[in-house]
Formats: sequence, structure tokens, C-alpha cells
Amino acid sequence: MEQRLKALEEKAIAEIKKADSTTDLEKARVHYLGKKGELTEILRGMGSLSKEERPIVGKVANIVRANIENALEESKTSIKDKELHRKLKAETIDVTMPGKEVKVGKRHPLTQAMDDLKNIFISMGFKVVEGPEVETVYYNFDALNAPKNHPSRDMSDTFYINENTVLRTQTSPMQVRVMEDEKPPIRIVSLGRCFRNDTPDATHSPMFHQIEGLVVDKGITMGDLKGTLEVFAKNFFGPDTKIKFRPHNFPFTEPSAEVDATCFKCGGEGCSVCKGNGWIEVLGAGMVHPNVLRNCGIDPEVYSGFAFGMGIDRLTMQKYGIDDIRLLFENDMRFIDQF
Ligand code: DAH
Repeated sequence: MEQRLKALEEKAIAEIKKADSTTDLEKARVHYLGKKGELTEILRGMGSLSKEERPIVGKVANIVRANIENALEESKTSIKDKELHRKLKAETIDVTMPGKEVKVGKRHPLTQAMDDLKNIFISMGFKVVEGPEVETVYYNFDALNAPKNHPSRDMSDTFYINENTVLRTQTSPMQVRVMEDEKPPIRIVSLGRCFRNDTPDATHSPMFHQIEGLVVDKGITMGDLKGTLEVFAKNFFGPDTKIKFRPHNFPFTEPSAEVDATCFKCGGEGCSVCKGNGWIEVLGAGMVHPNVLRNCGIDPEVYSGFAFGMGIDRLTMQKYGIDDIRLLFENDMRFIDQF
């Protein structure tokens, strides 16, 4: 029996030394020391030994068990080291391999234009404010002095959420919201999305962008409006830009004007951007109508103001030579990457 134990020890230790992974090692442990293992198997035969032999064999069995356990423990440490080494080797990075290209995004041309606009007006002391895209009929039309029968109120032009709520058709309602909240002097611009019930084509999109400007103080004149817009135009289109006012009609301004700028592409000679006439239509503007001031609790006998509004999408298209407004909203990186 002692011999069988010694033979078992030798076999077990040889196997443990050969083991190459923690799984191999665990298998060996179960095989030799487990409940159904070989050592237990041998010890089961101790019943047939004489009283004198039993303690001697028992001692040997304990030594064999201890030796096997020691061998297991030793192997475990060295195998763990080996495994770590193997893992590190497998995971080494080849620094000479070409890296994965990180795709850097780009500011959308509309965002670029809006950032430019904000910076220009901030530099003239304007504050940038934001307003709701879902707007009440009161702010979008009534408070802006739009007559009840004004065509823009029609369902075919405006998206109604319900009788009193619309998707704003212009940024002009922000004039009213600001004048209700703040006392003059007021100097704000507000940029954002507007919506009209238009069928999309190369020049129309049911969703588009505007910037609104409003200045209210004592003694504000049309001269201030002209000066402000001239500074804007020179900064946005180039230092040689000139502007001109054409009489127009808006419900919320009196007098009202449409403002053209000399074409930034040809400087006024006539080209494809300005369709040959040297000027491009840029915005609507005027002196805030006394009714609008009154609607907002501002006394038109004491204060006056000017306002202007322009479509940002069209300006962006002209500036970058984009011939279809729908391209702006497709979010195709091949398009956006060009600007
Ligand atoms: N809200 C006008 C539109 O969408 C543009 C406009 C014209 C805004 C004159 C103004 C203004 O503030 O004074 O067509």
C-alpha cells in the first residue's frame, strides 16, 4: 500500500509539473485529491490493514497528500505568471500599424451662418434670446398687429396645433415676448426655426430659419436702423457691401422696408447669385408699429424702436452657392463636409 501511495505521488507530481493552464491543474487536483480521486480510492482499502500497519500507512498518506498539495500550489503560481505573460503578449500593440481614422464632424453651414450672425450682433451690444417654436396665435399674429383677415393666418399657410396654437411662422413673436418682459432699452436678436405650410421644393421648406432683431429706446430712428443694418451687411457679406431700402408693408412696422444688399459675389455687376441685377434681397425691417408697442405696455409717445427679420437659409444658400434648400436638412456628411 505504501508503494501504491508513493507511485501515486510520483504520477501526480509529474502530471502537475506538466500542467500548462489553471484548467489542467484543477483537473489534476480533482483527479488525485477529489472525493472520487485516486488517493481517496487507495485510502478506502485501509480497512483491510492490520492495526499496526494502519497508522504507518496513514502517516504516509498524509505526507503524500501534503506533497501533492504543495506541488499544486507551486504550479498554480507559476502557471498564473505564464498565463499573464501569454495574455500580455497577445495584447501587445503594434505601434507601427496605421491607426483607425477618427472622423471629425463639422459645423453645419446653417450653424456657421447663425454663429456669424450672433457674433456680429453681439459685437454691437445685442443680447441673444430664444423663444418657443410652438407659439400662440396671440403672439404670432394678434399682438403683432396682423389684421384678422391677413392671408398668412390661413390654414393653407400656417400649421395650426389647435385654434389658438400654431407652429410659429416667423421669429417676430419674440419682439412681443421680450417687450412684455423687459423695460427699454431693449436690444435683442432671436434666431430659430420657423414653419410654414409650404410644399418642399428647391427654394421652399416647411421648416426654415429666421433671425429677428429688435431695438427699443427713447429716440430710436430709422437712421439707427440703417446704421445697424449697414454694419451687419459689411460684416456678413464683406466691407464693400452697400444696402438700399425699398418701401414695403408689414403689419408690425410703420414705415416698413425691404432691404437689399449689393451682391457679395459680383459686387453689383450682376452674376448668377444675384440673377444678374447686382442686388440681393436680404431682409424685412421697419419702425415698430405704435400698436405693437401699446400691445406690450410700452408708451409709443415716449419710446420708439426698429425691428428686422431675415431668412437664414436663403442667405446661407447664397453665401455657399447651395442651389437646393432641401440639401440643408438631409444631414448627409458628404454635403456638410464641403463647407
Ligand atoms: N416676420 C417677417 C417675415 O417673416 C420679417 C420681418 C419684416 C421681421 C419686418 C421684422 C420686420 O422684424 O420689421 O416675413
